Amino acid sequence: MSRTRSPLLVRGVVRAPGDKSISHRSLILAAMASGPTRIRDILASADVQATAGALRAMGAEIPALSDDFIVHGRGVASLHSPASALDCGNSGTTTRLLAGLVAGLEGRVARFEGDASLSRRPMRRIAAPLADMGAHIEFEGADGHDGLPMRVHGRPLSAITVVNTHASAQVKGALLLAGLASGSGVTVREPQRSRDHTERMLQARGVALTVAGEDVVLLPAQTVNAVDVVVPSDPSSAAFFAALAAFADEGVLRLENVCLNPTRTGAFDVLRRMGVRIDVEDERTVGGEAIGTLVVHPASLQATAIGGQEIPRCIDELPMIACVAARSVGETRITDAGELRVKESDRIRAVVENLRRLGVDVEELPDGMRIVGSQSSLSGHVVTHGDHRLAMAFGILGAVPGNRITIDDPACVSVSYPTFWRDLAQAIGPASPDSDQEPAVTSRPKPLVIAIDGPAASGKSSTAQWVAQILNVHHVDSGAFYRAITLLALGTGVAPEQWTPQAVLAQAHRITWRLTERSVLPLVDGTAQDEAMRDAPVTRQVSRVAQMAAVRHWVNDQVRAAGAATDVVVDGRDIGTAVFPTAALKVFLVADPWERARRRLIQRLGRRPNDAEIAEETEALVARDALDAAQSAPAPDVITIDTTTVTQEEQVQRIVALAKATRDRLRGP
Ligand code: S3P
Repeated sequence: MSRTRSPLLVRGVVRAPGDKSISHRSLILAAMASGPTRIRDILASADVQATAGALRAMGAEIPALSDDFIVHGRGVASLHSPASALDCGNSGTTTRLLAGLVAGLEGRVARFEGDASLSRRPMRRIAAPLADMGAHIEFEGADGHDGLPMRVHGRPLSAITVVNTHASAQVKGALLLAGLASGSGVTVREPQRSRDHTERMLQARGVALTVAGEDVVLLPAQTVNAVDVVVPSDPSSAAFFAALAAFADEGVLRLENVCLNPTRTGAFDVLRRMGVRIDVEDERTVGGEAIGTLVVHPASLQATAIGGQEIPRCIDELPMIACVAARSVGETRITDAGELRVKESDRIRAVVENLRRLGVDVEELPDGMRIVGSQSSLSGHVVTHGDHRLAMAFGILGAVPGNRITIDDPACVSVSYPTFWRDLAQAIGPASPDSDQEPAVTSRPKPLVIAIDGPAASGKSSTAQWVAQILNVHHVDSGAFYRAITLLALGTGVAPEQWTPQAVLAQAHRITWRLTERSVLPLVDGTAQDEAMRDAPVTRQVSRVAQMAAVRHWVNDQVRAAGAATDVVVDGRDIGTAVFPTAALKVFLVADPWERARRRLIQRLGRRPNDAEIAEETEALVARDALDAAQSAPAPDVITIDTTTVTQEEQVQRIVALAKATRDRLRGP
């Protein structure tokens, strides 16, 4: 029997998070300025956290990143050598811009480290011109490898003119920051203009900088005025949703607050050429940058050619454009894009291999690729190599009706767009109850969330694990996130009594998660820390951390992100109310306090407790229930299961039956 495909309907407004390039620069320039800089709507992603952490290590007072905060800059001279290596994580921009800054600060030394992907990326492009200015840079890896670890020694620098063979805003930014920090003039010439946020932001801060043709000329200067920033939405993030709208059969997506700086909007021009109607509304200038709302319509997509001058204007969007090309009529050629090979992954090879794995006719070129589009269904498993833009590009392609695409590492989106999966689910999700539109019918089944809540010692965690195993879906243990952040808080050396929510949350960027076969596994600095997380010191302090509202908020966001990426069974307090109010199935486990006390004691003591022991434990549980009453009130649409007189196995089977019925109702048997 052939099944007709349901149409893809998009709706609503997407407000992509803050622009990554502007976010990095707003922190660096705030730290270099003398005086307070108020920063709003910064992108609080892993990459930007790496910049914040590195600047803190050099003495800058940067609070935990939030929607609205103030950096009290104390001038360039106040920045000192960091006591330990600067961990740049996955972020090329952090490394290159800060290497430029350190190079211009006489007497300062910093060692730069990064993850495996960043350590492979070439640094000679900044090291060579910085050395020509007089800085000293050592590569500490294998002979001839110009990547991290790298040690930068700041020296008095001399003026320089650099003619770059390719357009790079990171190289340009590094040289301008080096010149500014050392008070020397710098001229950078590029074959095409790369993104110009550094220039705009320096000019706005009173720095004498002129742009003449392809030359950017910085005159010797050393003061940076403090200027407040409101970070617009990142066009590179918004572009994924432009592609989603283009793929749709019906509806329209409004992409709000997008930075429309002409050095960044190449991808929208390419999409227009491929037949996509993109209207611009509400265009205005904020903080020296054009911003506006893009209204994107479904399209009948045509192939195109992308190369030459256009490449720097859409370099980060090329994986997305390749995925759009895979659904277009005709053959698309991307050329002059050799730079893609030295991004977070070799994006030419990785995109080609993944498209081929999905069944697309594609050819790898030295400096790009050739893609033959088709309308046939694509299915397969995408290997992201931890590259955020690959996860998102293929995530969008996976939303097309008929396609069945799984992604190996959905959580790597945290590098630039932590809420990507949630925003995707919303853009193709059902209408809100008060909407007058028809409910959306989508191809990508919305992940199934089964929420299990209940009072203390109701057995929710072991039940959830068991249910997930039988259903073959992922179990999310929100407690593991509390444990992971507690472990990091202990590592700061600050006495637990002195912990503030802000200080605890400042560690959050070191935690990511990964899907293992059965669970959502939190990672600390990229590795699983199961044992350390279960250790007594963490157990003693975890409830202190779990009581902090801001930390609960953060954990809830992690759990929601997992639930937006894959089918999950999740247990915990408030799961069916605050965390997943729209969960497909909500179960609330209850049991008589005496019975809960008895079970808990058997587990704890490993023997049958006597009545006096049970009575004492019951009293403690009743007291705890009263404290928790506000938190663990059941959701109105919850199914309550009284487990007092059933075995755990029976209780698990009941939930599994309910879950299967729910899944069939939503997706068909
Ligand atoms: C960036 C510059 C670009 C871009 C990167 C961010 C920046 O890199 O790909 O995502 O903020 O300066 P290149 O300078 O290597 O072209």
